[in-house]
Amino acid sequence: MDTKGSERMIERNVTLDVGSGPYELDVHDSVMGLPGIDIRRLRAQARVVTFDPGFANTAVAKSSITYIDGSTGELRYRGYGIEEIASHSSFIEVAYLLLYGELPTAAELTAWESDISAQTMLNEEMRSFFDAFPRRAHPMAVLNSATSAISTFYDVYRRPTRKREIDAGARTLIAKLPTIAAWAYKKSIGEPYMYPNPDYSYVENFLHMMYARPGRQDRVDPSIVKALDVLLILHADHEMNCSTATVRAVGSSRANMFASVAAGMGALWGPLHGGANQAVIEMLQAIHDDPDATIESTLRRAKDKNDPFRLMGFGHSVYTNYDPRARILASFAEDVLARMERSDPLLDIAQELETAALNDEYFVERKLYPNVDFYSGIIFRALGFPSRMFTVLFAIGRLPGWIAHWIEMTTDPDTRIMRPRQLYVGEPARDYVLLEKR
Ligand code: ACO
Repeated sequence: MDTKGSERMIERNVTLDVGSGPYELDVHDSVMGLPGIDIRRLRAQARVVTFDPGFANTAVAKSSITYIDGSTGELRYRGYGIEEIASHSSFIEVAYLLLYGELPTAAELTAWESDISAQTMLNEEMRSFFDAFPRRAHPMAVLNSATSAISTFYDVYRRPTRKREIDAGARTLIAKLPTIAAWAYKKSIGEPYMYPNPDYSYVENFLHMMYARPGRQDRVDPSIVKALDVLLILHADHEMNCSTATVRAVGSSRANMFASVAAGMGALWGPLHGGANQAVIEMLQAIHDDPDATIESTLRRAKDKNDPFRLMGFGHSVYTNYDPRARILASFAEDVLARMERSDPLLDIAQELETAALNDEYFVERKLYPNVDFYSGIIFRALGFPSRMFTVLFAIGRLPGWIAHWIEMTTDPDTRIMRPRQLYVGEPARDYVLLEKR
């Protein structure tokens, strides 16, 4: 392989000397980022597989949706830098961009907003679905199940084959997820479900369904609407992350969009992924509440290989630099609290932890920086959300990304059913032992 000092100048193939080789392997270029060695025929030709737990070094698809440069901390949706998008766009506009590849014109945006707004209502029969859950049910479990459940009302989307049906499925999911999320929350606090209001924007409508009560339906403070809108934009896509890879894996079996997205929610819920936003707040609260806990003792625990504790909201599989979303959120958290004339002792603890970690050899050596979840929870909290809703908010934000990937995957001629290989290290072949002889 000849890089000649530049990734872009890589040759079109490489030679791998293995087994009865050498074998010529094609190299696929990317527009930005690293090229990829095509190993698809390697097993058949050379009788070897590649070993890559977590697919951390494997490109599973060619994608045109999101670009990340983890070494410089760069994130782009459809080519546009996240900083510009977060400053100028609305979340619903970003959803359009991710799905259709281009920023909408004013007319397209209006039509898109009204299409979404027209479908925010759930089928009335879904009320009994929410009623059936115990009050203590985690809202992520309800969100996940309800996402699968609503597909039962839309037979046509179960195996969409035409673009028109796929688009309609996407609109249905984007329109209804905030309603599902708000109803999951209302259920958990024992308050009446609020119906969507088509006169409100996407985000205001969600906040209305979360916080309004019958007979008390004040408009939501626009600065709260704006803050949540920015948070959702920052969560909207992140290329082949764990939940998106799950959506693609499930969709690769030709499972429908609803089932694939519901599976992605399961992956998102884990504390190493989207569940980290709840875990961060719980960690900060525990430090706050424990008179013996200090910044130093917390870092000591995080560095101790015999302690399963990790510094939640720190580290990332892709970023070896500051996560650009965390950079935006760090100052945004201060702005939001100042605008709301509030203070939060957990923000002070988070800032102290960040400074200490960024000056600690362990974190510096491993290039561990705050990720998106480190500050998002503090803002969600300031906006009035309980910590059990944080990952639900992440899911609402990530939904357009999941759908964009599902559509891209189903229309990509290179897509195959996701079926990795293994290195078997169990017992060699042995004879079965009858029960009476064991
Ligand atoms: N605290 C302490 N040590 C850490 C942390 C952390 N948060 N993150 C990584 N490390 C250490 C590892 O122990 C490992 O150390 P070693 O080289 O001595 O064995 C080294 O840094 C590399 O870490 P890996 O676990 O190999 O990195 P990986 O890419 O597999 O994991 C992950 C990334 C899961 C995000 C990890 O950094 C982590 O657990 N962070 C905390 C959870 C979190 O914030 N998740 C949200 C991620 S963002 C998102 O999904 C939306």
